[in-house]
Amino acid sequence: MSNKILVSGIKPTGRLHFGNYFGAMRQNIELANSGEYESYVFLADYHALTSVKNGDELRTQTLEAAASYIACGLDIDKAILFRQSSVPEVTELTWIFNNLVTMPYLMRAHAFKDNEAKNKDVNVGLFDYPVLMASDILMYNADVVPVGADQKQHIEYTRDIAGYYNRAFGVEQFKEPKELIVDGVAVIPGIDGQKMSKSYNNHIELFCSDEDLKKRVMSIVTDSATSEEKKNPDENNIYKIHKLFLNEEGDKSLRAKFENGGYSYKDAKEELLSTIMKWREGKKEKYNELISNPEKIIKILEEGGRKAKARAEVTMKMVRHQVGLQ
Ligand code: TYM
Repeated sequence: MSNKILVSGIKPTGRLHFGNYFGAMRQNIELANSGEYESYVFLADYHALTSVKNGDELRTQTLEAAASYIACGLDIDKAILFRQSSVPEVTELTWIFNNLVTMPYLMRAHAFKDNEAKNKDVNVGLFDYPVLMASDILMYNADVVPVGADQKQHIEYTRDIAGYYNRAFGVEQFKEPKELIVDGVAVIPGIDGQKMSKSYNNHIELFCSDEDLKKRVMSIVTDSATSEEKKNPDENNIYKIHKLFLNEEGDKSLRAKFENGGYSYKDAKEELLSTIMKWREGKKEKYNELISNPEKIIKILEEGGRKAKARAEVTMKMVRHQVGLQ
């Protein structure tokens, strides 16, 4: 294993969708499987607690998210796949970092501001979300963090916090990680054209039933152009989702269909549906097999958790000494 380190998390707040997949998971899987990184890939169940208030739901969703990762091809011999909460040290590090950031600084976080603007109650966990995320990343001394564009600010916060800590204690403990945001998949649109998100209910789940998949795809919002009309693919939501699955050649031929006219939205949606069904071939069976054997997933997560915790203990030993707790 090389000493480049990759860290990435996903919140198990619902079933994973194509925004998660194309925005982050695919890159994580490719990089982790390349063997060029020591990869820490986790289900951010502590972060999920900011919104999920049902133990059974969180447990189930965490296992489903792990199964999704494996079904999508994550090689668990090359990546450490684990529950965030298997490393309670991240909450300890969060507490230490909490004393280095101010409230006005955290009030500038997009997630906080968005919730405030919608007059939602912001619990203290949600307010502190960026600090816990910085702990996740710095705990393993990440070089690279593959994420979608919505997480960019969190990685900037992480770099800030690394610097605050190093300066406060006069050490070179934490290095500043880089986000990896891939052009073209930074913001994946949902079926209504807004950013795909569970909270907007505009998402397409990776492994929903075939009927639900069909329903979602057929309800992608379009304008009222007729079948004959030529259409601009770059302004078309069906195209924007479909192209994610295609290589250069496939993309070219799909663009031509939109541009030439004679390609109805019904045809376009049916073709997208068949592309997604093809993408799911093999993966969905693997997912279902894992989900029906939760003990298998639990074992993988426990094993990953032990490895991640061992790494975290090394960091915390130094940190506790630097700050004077030991
Ligand atoms: P979460 O669960 O909201 O999202 C997981 C990943 O999916 C990406 N993503 C998208 N990318 C492009 N377009 C979309 N429509 C879209 N929807 C989701 C997100 O950018 C993210 O990369 N805070 C993180 C979880 C986390 C984490 C970490 C990530 C906790 N600790 C440490 C990296 C490193 C989150 O909310 O993920």
